[in-house]
Amino acid sequence: MASDIFYKVIDLSHDGKGVIKDGDEIGFVSNAIPNEDISVVWYKKSKKIKFGYSIKIENRAKERVEPICEHFSICGGCQLQHIKYEEQLRFKQKKVFEAFKRIGKIDLVENPEIVGFEILNYRNKSTFFAQNGVAGFYKEESHDIINLKSCQIQPIINIEISNFIKKYRYIGSFTIRNHIDKIMLIFENSFKNIDELVKKFPDIISIYQKNRLIWGEQYITEKLLNFKFLISPNSFFQINTKQTEILYQIVADFLTPLKNEVIADCYCGTGTIALSISPFVKKVIGVELNKDSILDATQNSKINSVQNCEWIVGDATTVISDLIKTKKEIFDGVILDPPRAGTTKEFINSVVESKIKKVVYISCDPATLARDCSIFLENGYGLKKIKLVDMFPHTYHVESVVLLEYL
Ligand SMILES: C[S@@+](CC[C@H](N)C(=O)[O-])C[C@H]1O[C@@H](n2cnc3c(N)ncnc32)[C@H](O)[C@@H]1O
Repeated sequence: MASDIFYKVIDLSHDGKGVIKDGDEIGFVSNAIPNEDISVVWYKKSKKIKFGYSIKIENRAKERVEPICEHFSICGGCQLQHIKYEEQLRFKQKKVFEAFKRIGKIDLVENPEIVGFEILNYRNKSTFFAQNGVAGFYKEESHDIINLKSCQIQPIINIEISNFIKKYRYIGSFTIRNHIDKIMLIFENSFKNIDELVKKFPDIISIYQKNRLIWGEQYITEKLLNFKFLISPNSFFQINTKQTEILYQIVADFLTPLKNEVIADCYCGTGTIALSISPFVKKVIGVELNKDSILDATQNSKINSVQNCEWIVGDATTVISDLIKTKKEIFDGVILDPPRAGTTKEFINSVVESKIKKVVYISCDPATLARDCSIFLENGYGLKKIKLVDMFPHTYHVESVVLLEYL
């Protein structure tokens, strides 16, 4: 519902929306910047919270730029395209700083340093949703599909593949993984026209339907920091390959690994971090819940001729406790890179009780990172270093790396 009322934008929410007040209601508005006056189309309302996108803007902020995508503000994929890139970085620094202050009650001395990335088409994995001859991402705050005609943050060929698939009126989701100019496709449901698809797109080397290989190779391959990695359809891999090398370099810098040290890499995915630090330590134990990822990690150590990594399938909390308490393993350092929900109190307790000297925590959610860091700080650890990496330009997401040391 459109409105001619203009609202003053008072803040930017953690997910990049302009915040306005309308009586006792709060509105979150896409394509809005603090201090601008905006009129809004509201598309969703629940209780006293509503969501909309701006249609007219007065007092355009000096940080405003023309969005690079025709679908911006409707599409749920990007939230910050209307903001100059250096301001996007400042937004992410402030977001981490404030999460530490508000949630962790931790005062960082200043906004943490961030490594930016101004290259487009960076995503190496994208999931499309298709129905009724339409394919694309979901609209912001909804499950309606946008008929995606272009997308600046993923390889251009993905849109061509999507156009091809939707022509056959495929229904369901499909995921495209892009690594070193090769493509793996994972369909949720049956897609009948595989022969035409692979003929039209010779860079496709592997096609799955859910977990079942239906055409081509079992893996797609990536190279990082002089290591080769095999990736299977369900395995986690960092979304921005180029920035991942920077991220892992920061992890190694923070860890300062030594030749006689034993390190745990918890939530290790396909073993990328463990393998990248393996030349500098005595042993790394990688722990991961997803058994396909651990199978990939095992293969990855073989193809890279690495012999000092061990892999364990299981819940990181249970496994770390078992390794420390039952198996009496002594770790010099722990790396943890959990999903958005962060780790558990029990995981932190195991680390704290055994007084592991160095903890390098990688996180894509500043709120849970701040929460978990505060528990470490209450238990004898100091926060020694923090650095951010922009893995997801034009979105509100940010990756943080923290070094905690037992004092
Ligand atoms: C953010 S990814 C990090 C992967 C890896 N460190 C990397 O850089 O590619 C988080 C990983 O944690 C795994 N995971 C989720 N819950 C887990 C749990 N309870 N215990 C162990 N691993 C878990 C996921 O399968 C995923 O591979």
